[in-house]
Amino acid sequence: MTLSPDNPITLCTPPRVLCADGARLRIAPLCRRLGWRRALVVTDRWFVQHSAEFGGLLAALRGHGVAVHVFDGGAPDPSTTLVDEATQWVAREGVAPDHLIAWGGGSNIDLAKALSVTIPNARPVGELVGHADWPVAPLPLVAVPTTAGTGSEITPGAILVQPGSATKVALMANGLRPAVAVVDPELTLTCPARVTADAGLDALTHAIESWLTKDAIDFDVEGDPDPGYSGRSELTVLFAREATALVFRHLATAFEHPQDRQARRGMARASLYAAMSYATAGLNAVHGLAYALAGLTHASHGSTNAVMLPYVMDALVDVRRDELAEIARLAGAQGADSLALARSAPVLTRELVRRVGIATDLVAFGVAEEDLPRLVADGLAVKRLAKAWPGGAVADDYARIVRHAFHGELSGCRRR
Ligand SMILES: NC(=O)c1ccc[n+]([C@@H]2O[C@H](COP(=O)([O-])OP(=O)(O)OC[C@H]3O[C@@H](n4cnc5c(N)ncnc54)[C@H](O)[C@@H]3O)[C@@H](O)[C@H]2O)c1
Repeated sequence: MTLSPDNPITLCTPPRVLCADGARLRIAPLCRRLGWRRALVVTDRWFVQHSAEFGGLLAALRGHGVAVHVFDGGAPDPSTTLVDEATQWVAREGVAPDHLIAWGGGSNIDLAKALSVTIPNARPVGELVGHADWPVAPLPLVAVPTTAGTGSEITPGAILVQPGSATKVALMANGLRPAVAVVDPELTLTCPARVTADAGLDALTHAIESWLTKDAIDFDVEGDPDPGYSGRSELTVLFAREATALVFRHLATAFEHPQDRQARRGMARASLYAAMSYATAGLNAVHGLAYALAGLTHASHGSTNAVMLPYVMDALVDVRRDELAEIARLAGAQGADSLALARSAPVLTRELVRRVGIATDLVAFGVAEEDLPRLVADGLAVKRLAKAWPGGAVADDYARIVRHAFHGELSGCRRR
């Protein structure tokens, strides 16, 4: 199924995207070539203590005449408080980087993205959220994902927990897209199974949610001349389709056989392609409701997406039937009845979620029935996502999706 060529195409990506086994070995000579001499490397303690590849990066940078400072205080789901503490550490240490290198999962990359703005602007991150034209431009960032994945190495956002707030806040601007994205599948070989599953379903969510989202021609960019997200087009769907196929082909193997290099390569590409789609088309209900669910349960980003994804797909069977039928085929379904195929896509997606050990309904997530109205309200409050809903009345649809997710009900299969 192809989209109408009437949809405008807007594409903003990192100027350099490297994806190959061993791509990490190009970082040091590339930084040298680009004229960068003082690196702030942002990571977490696991890599400092256990990763030979990380040690190799530091040695290579020094060997190429690049001075290195390491901030190793990264943590899952970075908060605005962590960003401010890291900014103060940089000032105290007298570090004056001319570029940053983020090494780790989406959490470390988002922390580094936020630091690329707070360091040159010398301001708390809370004062910079909600703007896209900061007084000083962000420092250039090399993003090196070790999970597959969030795709943060491609996107214009840094997602941060704000203490006391029900959902995460986003620092968002095209200027925040990394200068170099380095996707090296070998770095994911050490990913624990839980992280492989969560991140892999995050990638599938990015692919499917952006495939089904609002068309670019109908997307309200609110007069922004340089929007980060602007709806789906023929171009984004190319990436979404390939990413979806790759996740259905490789995720279960990467989860069950972590040393399978072919599966790790497939998932690294899936994550990258999914990001090439959603980092332009944008997202909607899965992420909106998943942020609300994470606020309530503190469960991981990937798992909250994974539990919501099948129920959101099911709510779109009428308006996105052809796309869902195609997704079902990519997941291995056969047949000619497009409605039956479309209804089976959420069921097959939920089977994959279950196979990689993630709960498939909200009861199993520990949500109580009286929490449902709050989930809907918090999800709707993420307006940048709610406005991209391609279905009917968004408040009614969110309420129905949450109810079905609570009871584990899909139109193609009523049983959990
Ligand atoms: N900016 C964006 O566009 C965007 C998009 C999606 C998600 N996110 C954010 O990304 C975060 C989730 O990122 P994630 O799923 O990549 O996980 P993560 O970065 O939170 O990492 C989870 C854990 O896995 C460990 N880990 C990561 N890679 C490893 C490896 N190769 N070997 C061993 N351990 C490894 C980390 O040290 C960490 O303890 C969330 O905070 C989410 O909000 C951001």
